[in-house]
Amino acid sequence: MQDNKALRRRSAQGLEHSKDRVPNEVKMQYETIRKGDPGRWGLRPNLADYARARQELGWEAFAAEISGLPGGGLNIAYEAIDRHALGQNKDKAALYWEGAAGESERYSFADLFNLTNRLANALRGLGVKKGDRVFTYMDRTPELYIALLAIAKAGGVLGPLFSAFGPDAVRDRLADSGAKVLITTPKQIKIVRQVLAGLPELTTIIVVNRKGAARELGPREVSYEELMAEAAQAPALEPTGPEDFAIVHYTSGTTGKPKGVMHVHQAIVGHYATAKLVLDLHPEDIYWCTADPGWVTGTSYGIFGPWSNGVSQVVFEGGFGAGRWYQVIEKYKVTVWYSAPTAIRLLMKAGDQAAKKYDLSSLRYICSVGEPLNPEAVVWSQKALGLPFHDNWWQTETGCIQIANYPAQDIKPGSMGRPFPGVTATILDEACEKELAPGQEGHLALKAGWPSMFRTYWNRQDYYESRFTNGWYITGDRARMDQDGYFWFVGRADDVINTAGHLVGPFEVESALIEHPAVAEAGVIGIPDPIAMEVIKAFISLKDGYQPSEELKKEIKQFVRKKLHALAFPREIEFLPSLPKTRSGKIMRRLLKARELGLPEGDTSTLEE
Ligand code: PRX
Repeated sequence: MQDNKALRRRSAQGLEHSKDRVPNEVKMQYETIRKGDPGRWGLRPNLADYARARQELGWEAFAAEISGLPGGGLNIAYEAIDRHALGQNKDKAALYWEGAAGESERYSFADLFNLTNRLANALRGLGVKKGDRVFTYMDRTPELYIALLAIAKAGGVLGPLFSAFGPDAVRDRLADSGAKVLITTPKQIKIVRQVLAGLPELTTIIVVNRKGAARELGPREVSYEELMAEAAQAPALEPTGPEDFAIVHYTSGTTGKPKGVMHVHQAIVGHYATAKLVLDLHPEDIYWCTADPGWVTGTSYGIFGPWSNGVSQVVFEGGFGAGRWYQVIEKYKVTVWYSAPTAIRLLMKAGDQAAKKYDLSSLRYICSVGEPLNPEAVVWSQKALGLPFHDNWWQTETGCIQIANYPAQDIKPGSMGRPFPGVTATILDEACEKELAPGQEGHLALKAGWPSMFRTYWNRQDYYESRFTNGWYITGDRARMDQDGYFWFVGRADDVINTAGHLVGPFEVESALIEHPAVAEAGVIGIPDPIAMEVIKAFISLKDGYQPSEELKKEIKQFVRKKLHALAFPREIEFLPSLPKTRSGKIMRRLLKARELGLPEGDTSTLEE
């Protein structure tokens, strides 16, 4: 039997270093990827000359392409929908919706204009005012998109939650943000009712009953359908300004519970410009972003980026399935596709033949984000789909793409690419004081001040400020820049786990674990995984009277899965008599990880005897 730890060690090192050790055969295959290929449609890329764009384009130039509100001010929903609905694009398809069961619906920009006006008026009627936090908690149906846009129109701060979240994940976010209204569906209502008692500030729950099943409404609940029937369709825009809060996304850090990352209406300038130049969106495109709005990608690039460019987009309600995904591309003739490495690796696993069964010839340009995209995946997509995936890098905090591979550029497979025009990226030394020379590894940092930069963490301004030094935003990632200005991801500088592109804070999982009656202490780390990049492993010491067993492992896994969500439960559990701690009682995750992977243990002087 092979030594598990040795395998993991190799895998961990592979993940860290594979990017600049591209095997020869991969390089040779890559040579066949044509440089600056304008794609099957012969469209000229929106960013045709990188060096020139960096010299000539900046945020001011992009901001000039945004309309602004007729009477002054700025609103992201107006830029996404109203300006197209009120102009030449009113009958153009904004949304092609594909239901999980194969249903199709089409919404023009004018349809979305009318529906979002109605809901915005209804929200106003429920007392929503500028700056109020309003959340959605539902599957990817058209109403989710209508709701998110309507919240922005009413001047609220939109907060999308994954529909698969469990009660703890929902309560933590609604309570922390002091949410006023929640828009949800009968599928989620049981969980909502479970957490309601702890949410005194939540005045109204709007229930979208798409299937029209007979239902009784509980306390604080109102019917979406009734609200919509009664609401006026007249335009409903709150006169918001560029610096008013528009979006909140919760993200995980090393310590504490998830934090609310706050974005303002000005962020639309970043969404618009990067969707145009990185995703290369043209008016004739049919675009599909596979991400859910619960993840920042599904908001910046599943709502605001494409629609601010007046582009038609597909939303697929269902989850991953290789055949089903290819079917969506074939059915809607998707031209530009934005997905994530875990999904791409799953497509690779499904095999080239799975792709060959469908007509994917509409695709002209494909991009990836969220985790390191291994060079093999780039080469595979060239072979199986006839196009290379273009990797790009950004974060919830950055709001839009910062570093990217562009259609008119050589890709170096494994590299995240080069900074967007208007973005200054660098590598700083350990103290985050000095910029390092090309080739040296350090902290990836960005010059503060781009339009979609987050403006604070909700109620945690001190932590926000700690993320900046000398005008640089410190991203929390470690990276290298090469001589040509391409950036290469090395790893996280903190304990945050990236599983299938989703960040999970170990503290959140540990907090859930110790609520299980058998668990005395828990330490959580990420371990390498060939598909999901990392999966969660928990080390647990048990309370007196409990014995380790496979049954207990299963029970604990389910316990966390139900409380938080499917991505945040530990795939592996190991029972230990006690966990390594510092003298002040802090569990040493770093040591757990080093031991797990067979890596050097480093400084253990603070270890409790
Ligand atoms: O560690 C980096 C990784 O995902 C983090 C950001 O995650 P989140 O805030 O959830 O934002 C997701 C929207 C992109 C980063 O700090 N990450 C993101 N893109 C890449 C990446 N790691 C390597 N390569 C990438 N292209």
